[in-house]
Amino acid sequence: MKDIIIAIDGYSSCGKSTITRDLANALGYVYVDTGAMYRAVTLYCLEKGIIQEGRAVDAGKVIRELLNIHIDFKHSIETGKTETYLNGKNVENDIRSMAVNELVSPVSAIHEVRKVMVYLQRKMGANPGVVMDGRDIGTTVLPHADLKIFMTADIKVRTQRRMLELKERGIKAKEQEVERNLLKRDQEDMNREESPLKQAPDAVVLDNTNLTHEEQLAKVLRWAKEKMIG
Ligand code: DC
Repeated sequence: MKDIIIAIDGYSSCGKSTITRDLANALGYVYVDTGAMYRAVTLYCLEKGIIQEGRAVDAGKVIRELLNIHIDFKHSIETGKTETYLNGKNVENDIRSMAVNELVSPVSAIHEVRKVMVYLQRKMGANPGVVMDGRDIGTTVLPHADLKIFMTADIKVRTQRRMLELKERGIKAKEQEVERNLLKRDQEDMNREESPLKQAPDAVVLDNTNLTHEEQLAKVLRWAKEKMIG
């Protein structure tokens, strides 16, 4: 069996990260969460006061900071997860806050931000043996990926999953607010000029509204093994 490159795209809170991480673990592949990279840029700008909740994002100010932002991923033996580091600090929890959720789409729509992130992502995804998830992986970052998966799920199910994730992280949020944020992010991600969220023509669709985690993992593992053999 040969090693392959796997691209997973889809809507917010479809469970992309969980499936991508478990698929990577099952295959012994490197896992790259590209959403975490845009989130880290957003967190840095929030902490520096360059952007604020409820205010329009000033792209020029964000671009000027790009050289000061260093993002790494490290595997934690403790949690068994790949965690995100911003300038040497573990920010895995902080990048999932509601403030970051609110501002990450406009930040990720900035041309220069995408250019830098896509450059880094292509380097990380250069060799087979990688699973990368995001919005534009199968279309822009790794268009030559051997297996492309496009994930979707009902909005109510996605809202419940996001509520649970926030609760687990000790973050309080109203259901209505979470649903509104998910729909808003979908709209912004699908309608931005550069690399909008869209299904690659050669992607297979995974609608997991009615699938358990085990069923999903079995499905994607089967798809991956077919490509590894073929
Ligand atoms: O997958 P996520 O929810 O952590 O992603 C956070 C945001 O980052 C999402 O709203 C859009 C943006 N993003 C992007 O524009 N391109 C990617 N490849 C990944 C994420």
